[in-house]
Amino acid sequence: MKNEPGMMVAVTQEWHVARAQRAATALARSVGLSQVAVYSLATSVSELANNLFFHTRVGGTITLRAVRQNGSVGVEIVAEDDGPGIADVDSAMRDGFTTNGGLGVGLPGVKRLMDEFEIESQVGAGTRVVAVIWSAGATLQP
Ligand SMILES: Nc1ncnc2c1ncn2[C@@H]1O[C@H](COP(=O)(O)OP(=O)(O)OP(=O)(O)O)[C@@H](O)[C@H]1O
Ligand SMILES: [Mg+2]
Repeated sequence: MKNEPGMMVAVTQEWHVARAQRAATALARSVGLSQVAVYSLATSVSELANNLFFHTRVGGTITLRAVRQNGSVGVEIVAEDDGPGIADVDSAMRDGFTTNGGLGVGLPGVKRLMDEFEIESQVGAGTRVVAVIWSAGATLQP
């Protein structure tokens, strides 16, 4: 089955974080994700959107898309920005690493909550995170 076109939410103001989270929840429910997966997705979108708002100055976009593979349905998040980028991605992925007094659990938390996670970042060019949760839900796997 073909994947659907994405829905893009701009994140340039703090209240856009909640808007992105609501859009993710609605999409996840409409494709039939479990309640656990809906919460995992919504939390991940909130963390990534917060990072766009707090770490980039310029903001960015969250694109949400229903994806299908081998009979499974999932939701993909793409969080992109043209902001300052991350100098040391390995450090940023570690629990407790923060450059602005946060908890430093956003990115590693998203990696744990989602089934697939990729991050690429270039200093001075921006950051792109792609993450997918599948219908079974990461937390329901043995
Ligand atoms: N989109 C981004 N652009 C630039 N830097 C980023 C971006 N996202 C994350 N970072 C960097 O990676 C660090 C770790 O991000 P993470 O979300 O894990 O923690 P945090 O945002 O600092 O705190 P928390 O999310 O727990 O409130 C950030 O402190 C910041 O330096
Ligand atoms: Mg964060």
